[in-house]
Amino acid sequence: MSGIVIRKATEKDVNQIADLDKICFSVPWSEQSFAKELKENNLAFYILAESKETGQIVGYAGVWLIQEEGHITNVAVHPDFRRKHIGMTIIDVLMKESRKQAGIKTFTLEARKSNTVAIELYKKFGFAEVGIRKGYYQENKEDAVIMWTIPL
Ligand SMILES: CC(C)(COP(=O)(O)OP(=O)(O)OC[C@H]1O[C@@H](n2cnc3c(N)ncnc32)[C@H](O)[C@@H]1OP(=O)(O)O)[C@@H](O)C(=O)NCCC(=O)NCCS
Repeated sequence: MSGIVIRKATEKDVNQIADLDKICFSVPWSEQSFAKELKENNLAFYILAESKETGQIVGYAGVWLIQEEGHITNVAVHPDFRRKHIGMTIIDVLMKESRKQAGIKTFTLEARKSNTVAIELYKKFGFAEVGIRKGYYQENKEDAVIMWTIPL
């Protein structure tokens, strides 16, 4: 984690976040979707990890703050920067800041059933599998695992 700074994302980060998403997901969000998130969506809150030296965005995570619930939208770390606890740090900061700034008491998210790395990572933060959404991912009809944390 040395040489990495964690900070709140702003609208200036849209292009780099969209580029990172293309590398990390088979069905990435469009640049327009991220532009909407960071410019217009008052409920959206995004944290990112940036290389101090180059300014490259190497990871990000987002959440929608809906009343006392935090709906995590996405978490991604560039393949060259994985297994350095950047993912854990981003999630940790995202959840702590959501609790502190917006009074979030519980978090939820969906993950592909096959994404055992992400599911195990979320369990470290108190997420438990509470249900399945059958065929949720349209392009390959994969099931989504629905996860929630216990309200604090
Ligand atoms: C999931 C993801 C964000 C993890 O990012 P990361 O920065 O590499 O994760 P961390 O280094 O913080 O890993 C934390 C822990 O998760 C587990 N973990 C992470 N990657 C793992 C892997 N490839 N295999 C097994 N366990 C893994 C380990 O327990 C790890 O702790 P350890 O390194 O001390 O053993 C990253 O793999 C990614 O971007 N994947 C593609 C996008 C994605 O699937 N996002 C989630 C959508 S629901």
